Amino acid sequence: MYLYLIEVLLFVINGTIFNLFDLTHIMTEAQKTLSGAVRERDTSFCQEADNKTSVLEVDSLKKVFSNNGLKVEVLKDLKCLIYSGEIVGVVGASGVGKTTFLHILGTLDRPTSGKVLHFGEDVFSWNDTKLSKFRNKELGFVFQFHHLLPEFSALENVMMPCLVAGESRAKAREMAKDILAETGLEKRFDHRVGQLSGGEQQRVALARAMARKPGLLLADEPTGNLDERTGEKAAELIFTLNKRYGTTVVVVTHNLALASRMDRCIGLAGGRAVELDVSELKDFGVGSIS
Ligand SMILES: Nc1ncnc2c1ncn2[C@@H]1O[C@H](COP(=O)(O)OP(=O)(O)O)[C@@H](O)[C@H]1O
Ligand SMILES: [Mg+2]
Repeated sequence: MYLYLIEVLLFVINGTIFNLFDLTHIMTEAQKTLSGAVRERDTSFCQEADNKTSVLEVDSLKKVFSNNGLKVEVLKDLKCLIYSGEIVGVVGASGVGKTTFLHILGTLDRPTSGKVLHFGEDVFSWNDTKLSKFRNKELGFVFQFHHLLPEFSALENVMMPCLVAGESRAKAREMAKDILAETGLEKRFDHRVGQLSGGEQQRVALARAMARKPGLLLADEPTGNLDERTGEKAAELIFTLNKRYGTTVVVVTHNLALASRMDRCIGLAGGRAVELDVSELKDFGVGSIS
């Protein structure tokens, strides 16, 4: 009964609400496609450059918000490529549109215009049902505030995406235990979220995002709410997961230590994206806050 309640009530995974009709589809698709830690993907249609395969292509991206009739053009003409397996930082001053950009990459918000291709697929041409299935299967999210479910244990929180995807309770437990152990929380399985420290909560959030081994992990200021030492541990974990599972990672951060270790950094300014050198990070607000 308890399990049933969890499955039915908790469609709020990664900030996304799934509707009940998606569930059968999600279950079938997930069972078909979950085959081991890293799934094979058809990348024949993706752009190749210097032996790298693009998993994400963004072109002429525009996002305009309307606030009480006042239009704010946050993203104007943003273009970038993200390659398979890399870990990329997104930096820029506060209010420049980093979260907006990440939400669009994660299909949590639609662009005003422009192109966003995931594995060569124009995801915004899909309807909401197909989009939410894709999101559940291929994307993992970590936010500055963890958005875990406080009434549930660490293990139950991490099991959620697996249960929603149609895994049996036993399999979901196994997947959740494995990834939680990977984050160093094997002694905290049964702790409620509220009984964990900030750093531990963020590690649970990372474990939840990685529970189904998504192809792309999107993290919005994952160390922004943590003290320096705890932030370092969370950052280390992101690098470990990137290497261990080959997950492509995009991280919004103001943290200089974290940004300097990225494969590369993209800076946002004036609604556009520029490729940055480490020496330029400070000009983009990096290091000013954690
Ligand atoms: N849902 C929204 N409606 C209206 N304006 C928004 C919305 N989301 C973000 N904005 C505005 O877009 C700008 C960029 O916000 P955001 O992407 O959160 O910036 P950053 O993450 O770089 O600090 C801000 O001016 C913010 O007020
Ligand atoms: Mg933000």
